[in-house]
Amino acid sequence: MSRSLSRLALLTSSIAASALLAQSLAAQPHDASVANHELHYYDIEDFGMQASEVNYAEHIAPILQQSCQQCHRPGGAGPMSFMSYDEVRPWAPVIMHRTAIRDRMGAMPPWFVEKDIGITDGFESDYSLSDKQLAMIQAWARNGAARGNPDDEPEPLVFAEGNEWTLGEPDLVLRGPDMTRPAVGPDWWGDLGLVPTGLTEDRYVKSIEVREINDIPMDQGTNTVGGRYIFHHMTYQSGVLSEDGSYIEPDSSVSWPIHEVGRNADVFPDSAGRLLHANSALHLSAAHLHSNGRETTGHLEFGITFFPRDYLPEYTNRGPRTGNGIDLDVLPNKANQELHNYVVLQEHTKIMAFEPHLHAPGVRMCMEAIWGHNIFTLNCVGYDHNWVKQYIYKEDRAPLLPKGTILHTIAFMDTTDANPNLADARNWAGGGRRSVSNMFIDLGYNVTMTEEQFQAEMAKRRASMEDRNEYDVGCPLCWAPVPEYSTLAGSED
Ligand code: HEC
Repeated sequence: MSRSLSRLALLTSSIAASALLAQSLAAQPHDASVANHELHYYDIEDFGMQASEVNYAEHIAPILQQSCQQCHRPGGAGPMSFMSYDEVRPWAPVIMHRTAIRDRMGAMPPWFVEKDIGITDGFESDYSLSDKQLAMIQAWARNGAARGNPDDEPEPLVFAEGNEWTLGEPDLVLRGPDMTRPAVGPDWWGDLGLVPTGLTEDRYVKSIEVREINDIPMDQGTNTVGGRYIFHHMTYQSGVLSEDGSYIEPDSSVSWPIHEVGRNADVFPDSAGRLLHANSALHLSAAHLHSNGRETTGHLEFGITFFPRDYLPEYTNRGPRTGNGIDLDVLPNKANQELHNYVVLQEHTKIMAFEPHLHAPGVRMCMEAIWGHNIFTLNCVGYDHNWVKQYIYKEDRAPLLPKGTILHTIAFMDTTDANPNLADARNWAGGGRRSVSNMFIDLGYNVTMTEEQFQAEMAKRRASMEDRNEYDVGCPLCWAPVPEYSTLAGSED
């Protein structure tokens, strides 16, 4: 406990300093090194509760149902089950610690968006814990982890057995070929060929979820996410099949979010469904497989749901991708290394999703918008190479950036021994595809907007704000005078 108390003291003394932080990240003192990860501790009395009243039945079980049991249940991805008081009780101190990490490597639940900077409450399917929920877990764990009255426990959630689709039963399931990896062996890269979709008409995709089906027994937990799988990742595209069915027509190619182990499903926003053509195929162009300690045979399944047949997307043009995959210089044995990347947006742009992609040394990524004299920190998220997460903006919170904005991404690396994901702290590493080399890319995506779409989106945003003192970090021009284009006036109504 003394360790946590000193953290608490540190935290309190830094509160005064943090009140002075400017909006700009450049002006913000930050320490992204693993050794100095801040733990987030709260006093339950600040939330109008007494520590002694916090109990499992009324306060902790609902949190586990909201944010943990989808993985921590028999057959889930987590190493132990948190379905009952008896299962949870022994873990109380560890649960307190892992949840207090909050937004850094090792945090539970695995959701790493920093809550104190940028666009807060901006993401879909956010299952992270609130300050109050952390306070309740901490008060509970420190005061004997009481059960309370079992009659107050919420109805248990019912989960289907095993490796179910998290988004529910898809409209279409496509299956890749079976692959076998030996118990021990080098990593394997390759092209797994085409998987015809069988579609006879164009359809727009609402969501896509990829799961690995393999012969590792479900009841055998592992301590790592990777230990349960052989597919490390899969890059794939779709497109119209050539006449002889041997390739996809290059000019029809549509790219899809990369499947990576530990990654969540992709739900496309209503304004930007993605096209799957009639007579198309998926091209599983670049698989990366690894051995996991036992001989394993497995394949990927792609579960797709569609928008209704008459649906047409509002946005179809993708904007630039940011980051730097090649030209990197990551020094050995050094925490808090920063890498920077800048892109000037050539069109008005709406950022739909943020997906930091780093390799083992990565600990944090931030995205900021530089517009005129202003710098807006859009979001900062922690990074843990065991969990590759995509954060999808809510449509009404997504950044709306005028053309000319400089989109600046900043990666933070820690190559010291404190970083448990690192193979060897002594090696210099440049950019490259292998996990021992580095990447620094935002795999999220954005769409470009016409002037009219841009003005209409901003008008909607303004209408939802109380008054001019309300401020949208992701919308630098929201309160700028509306330009007088004759075609724009009234076109919204
Ligand atoms: C998306 C799946 C997922 C969710 C959601 C999730 N966990 Fe986990 N959890 C894992 C996996 C996988 C591991 C093992 C890898 C690791 O330790 O990071 C783990 C490990 C842990 C551990 C460490 C166990 C040990 O051996 O030290 C604790 C404690 C834990 N989780 C608690 C929680 C709590 C509490 C929640 C909800 C607030 C939660 N987890 C939500 C998947 C998940």
